[in-house]
Amino acid sequence: MRNRRAAVTGALAVTASLALAACGQSAEGGGKNASGGAEGATIGIAMPTQSSERWIADGRNVVKNLEAKGYKTRLVFGEDDPDQQVAQIENLITQGVKALVVAAIDNKSLNNVLQQAADAHIPVIAYDRLILGSKNVDYYASFDNAKVGELQATYIVEKLGLKDGSKKGPFRIELFAGSNDDNNTKYFFGGAMSVLNPYIEKKQLVVGSGQTALNQVTTLRWDGGTAQKRMDDILTSAYKTERVDAVLSPYDGISIGILSALKSDDYGSKTKPLPVVTGQDAELASVKSIIAGEQTQTVYKDTRELAKVAANMVDAVLHDKKPEVNDDKTYDNGSKVVPAYLLDPVSVDKTNYAQVLVGGGYYTATDLK
Ligand code: GAL
Repeated sequence: MRNRRAAVTGALAVTASLALAACGQSAEGGGKNASGGAEGATIGIAMPTQSSERWIADGRNVVKNLEAKGYKTRLVFGEDDPDQQVAQIENLITQGVKALVVAAIDNKSLNNVLQQAADAHIPVIAYDRLILGSKNVDYYASFDNAKVGELQATYIVEKLGLKDGSKKGPFRIELFAGSNDDNNTKYFFGGAMSVLNPYIEKKQLVVGSGQTALNQVTTLRWDGGTAQKRMDDILTSAYKTERVDAVLSPYDGISIGILSALKSDDYGSKTKPLPVVTGQDAELASVKSIIAGEQTQTVYKDTRELAKVAANMVDAVLHDKKPEVNDDKTYDNGSKVVPAYLLDPVSVDKTNYAQVLVGGGYYTATDLK
């Protein structure tokens, strides 16, 4: 790979500036810090959607970090349409970007376009979501995804009093997972079930709907409305007399949908308390919901740090250096084990949001009002 990069560096810098000049398109940022063939290079960033605020923040933060290193950037959002994302990446390649940072919508739909990138000697960093089945993925920047699920599930068993043995149950729980075309989904769910299964086996936790297999509980494209509908159906069919005590939710947008279904069924009233509801991403609406006593927990992943890792990877690769990685065995994409840098997720609830999110500068106290 070192030779491949070195050989193309100069040629591509020319192609990039010519292509951009020819299209009359401007790209933000300067080339002041990048050195050698990488100087002034344009980096393509393909994010999945603007419907979730985390990806908007991710896009903004990746741009900021790359520009601080002297790169220009082109940021696109695929709006949860895999075909649109493929077309956008094709465009970025045509426009002469020198590296790609991609958070995939459908982890298996990018093989052809990544081959085009490889043919043009464009390195690819998989951002947060691993791209499967392609050898043309150079590095992966993400969080410890199994730990995300472990944090959610541990929160549930602690909150219900099962972990310290103060309560024996049985408690009723429902399980939700993310999109089946996102590689993270099986890590989140697997991590969570490694904690929940022993309690399910001992019948201290009972899944009222009986839906425990991953393929029964996924939520296409992480859609909150889809989750709301499934929760509505479950409440109608499996909770005629019983109450649900906990809901494993993998993502804040899904949690908001689940909470809407619960509230329509009178949960949150004096006689029917809301169950423990987990989440992920510390999105503003969910943090506000936690403060209001509705959603119970979320898993905070500092997108500022993830963006920094991804930008450092780009910079290293374009300077023919090996990026810093801390995991070279977990993320096998079916074609290769992709070297990864994994950050640490943090469990957040009402007791620590101020310290973690406000103290850490992720939100201001005013944001959360
Ligand atoms: C996952 C990501 C989560 C969440 C979800 C929905 O890939 O790891 O943090 O953002 O997508 O957007």
